[in-house]
Amino acid sequence: EKGGYDYFMLKEIAEQPKAVADTLLGRIGASGELTLDEIRIPAAELREATKVVIVACGTAFHAGLIAKYAIEHWTRVPCEVELASEFRYRDPILDQRTLVVAVSQSGETMDTLMALRHAREQGARVLAICNTNGSTIPRESDAVLYTHAGPEVAVASTKAFLTQVAACYLLALYLGQVRGTQWGDEIRAVVRDLAQIAGQVERVLATMEPVRELARSLAGKDTVLFLGRHVGYPVALEGALKLKELAYMHAEGFAAGELKHGPIALIEEDLPVVVVVPSPRGRSVLHGKIVSNIQEIRARGARTIVIAEEGDEAVVPYADHLVRIPATPTLLQPMVAAVPLQVFACELATARGNEVDQPRNLAKSVTVE
Ligand code: M6R
Repeated sequence: EKGGYDYFMLKEIAEQPKAVADTLLGRIGASGELTLDEIRIPAAELREATKVVIVACGTAFHAGLIAKYAIEHWTRVPCEVELASEFRYRDPILDQRTLVVAVSQSGETMDTLMALRHAREQGARVLAICNTNGSTIPRESDAVLYTHAGPEVAVASTKAFLTQVAACYLLALYLGQVRGTQWGDEIRAVVRDLAQIAGQVERVLATMEPVRELARSLAGKDTVLFLGRHVGYPVALEGALKLKELAYMHAEGFAAGELKHGPIALIEEDLPVVVVVPSPRGRSVLHGKIVSNIQEIRARGARTIVIAEEGDEAVVPYADHLVRIPATPTLLQPMVAAVPLQVFACELATARGNEVDQPRNLAKSVTVE
């Protein structure tokens, strides 16, 4: 049932191109328009929404953090992302014109369920992005957009994450389409690029041997830090979460711009720091800033593990280890950049003798608050 792989996690990492392709299938029309008829929330209501609030936990929360960049950029609708476990305890401001998006692989996460119940009590519309047909969260929502990742067995979420990001982007583009804002050449181009993503994930997967080797060489370390900017920041958080739950190592993700506000004090000789580098094309200001960050930490002794797109030569002098990913538009980069981090955590866990599919103290779906 593991399809020849040692662990479900390895199988599920390998299934990501298909999972992403299946999630996009039938939802993008020939001329680049989105056909999400399954969202039964009337277009008029989506047009009138004044705010999007995403609630989720763990890896699904990181998908939500990424989605915020896409939703605000393409639709100009303000978007908040909140940990489901915090949401209802702070008396959030919600009304009929708030679209609450609950993201959950299992559809059974109690924190997320309680958050969506609270939202509906306040009159908000709730849309679930979920991987499990007929589970509680979609049943209690007004509408559902299913991710088609197939069953995810390993506790560490991988293919569900990529499809959550894909589904959130479909929603963002659809909202843009329905509202008519920013629906122009850029969105059409993004839809085309989105359709290429599965193939690019496949290419990343084919080049992971050096990442595995690097992971094995770091098995004796205590700490790994992750840095990113813009959508690379949630990717850094996700890389750190994977390492915590699988390798039982101290791992933290930071927004690279925050380094000088505290975390840079953690840098010491030979500390591994993974840096997710945005594309040098597009938002080039971001790229320049992160190259300076890499220089700063390296000057203080960090061992830099740089994830950068093919053709980005500016990072080469400062990378102790360089992991190449295909060039994508900035907003789509998380879907390729997250993959080496998954492989890295899985291999490190194996090297440390940990149970990859069933990490200690964790359950696949957390059905208690
Ligand atoms: O089933 P859900 O997507 O609601 O689960 C949310 C989190 O519990 C889950 O993503 C968890 O963080 C994973 N084990 C991370 O790999």
